[in-house]
Amino acid sequence: MRSVTRDTITQAFLDYCGPETDPRLKSVLESLVRHLHAFAVENNLTHAEWRKGLELLTKAGDITDSERNEFVLFSDVLGLSSLVDMINSPDEGTPSSVLGPFHMLGAPDLAVGGDMKGDNVGDTVIVTGTVCEPDGKPIAGAEIEIWQTADNGLYSNQDPDQSEYNLRGHMVVGEDGRYLFTTVRPSPYAVPDDGPVGELLHATGRDPWRPSHLHFIITAPGFRSLVTEVFPSDDPYLDVDAVFGVREKLIMIYEKQSAGDAIPDGLAAADALTDPYYKVDFDFVLVREA
Ligand code: BEZ
Ligand code: FE
Repeated sequence: MRSVTRDTITQAFLDYCGPETDPRLKSVLESLVRHLHAFAVENNLTHAEWRKGLELLTKAGDITDSERNEFVLFSDVLGLSSLVDMINSPDEGTPSSVLGPFHMLGAPDLAVGGDMKGDNVGDTVIVTGTVCEPDGKPIAGAEIEIWQTADNGLYSNQDPDQSEYNLRGHMVVGEDGRYLFTTVRPSPYAVPDDGPVGELLHATGRDPWRPSHLHFIITAPGFRSLVTEVFPSDDPYLDVDAVFGVREKLIMIYEKQSAGDAIPDGLAAADALTDPYYKVDFDFVLVREA
């Protein structure tokens, strides 16, 4: 098209896609460009604003390396990561929630009943529950990966004072689908706000904080894998999570325990429990692959 105008530019773009374009790529790209053009028109976007946007993306590229991905963080704080999670979460199972940038492959094995707390300072939490199907049937042999922050709000791969796999574990559940471990109560933490994402958060008066949480990845043959996180009901940041990861069904209650309360069978650290300690009971529901 020669005489492109603001009214014809969107169609011109659509017409440029050749017939050999993959159909899904074509429809996603068409939709993206339609929304992008409509966004510019709707806002009467100025050159200065357009340049500012590109400047933020350039800074994101500059700060991104193998340890930190500012583009993923942009997607997180704009709510896009969580929206994609929700679009792809089956209605019946436990909702998924953001993976985040701090997952590591190769976490050490943790037996059912094992202790992940080790010598980490902070309150002890007994975490237990079942990996099951929507009708409650246990899923034998399901694998669980767990990772979390230490008391200082940092993950082991952010903190040179922690050992490489501190507060990370890999558990395989038995026939009854039950998982059980002791750990330290995780702490809230702020997403990195010293880059362009931080600029955006500060410019809009937003909190960089995330409520404390335990991360989990649950896999079992024949079932859809679940990437999720669970949050304590009394966390002060539940309603302002910087990355929109909280779902009602992912909130768990930390029950304060006292001397005389029953300790679950098979807990390796049972003799080391000292007040105050908490217990959390949370079931993970997986749905079968279609
Ligand atoms: C996290 O949960 O670890 C996380 C998620 C998104 C952005 C930053 C951190
Ligand atoms: Fe996290």
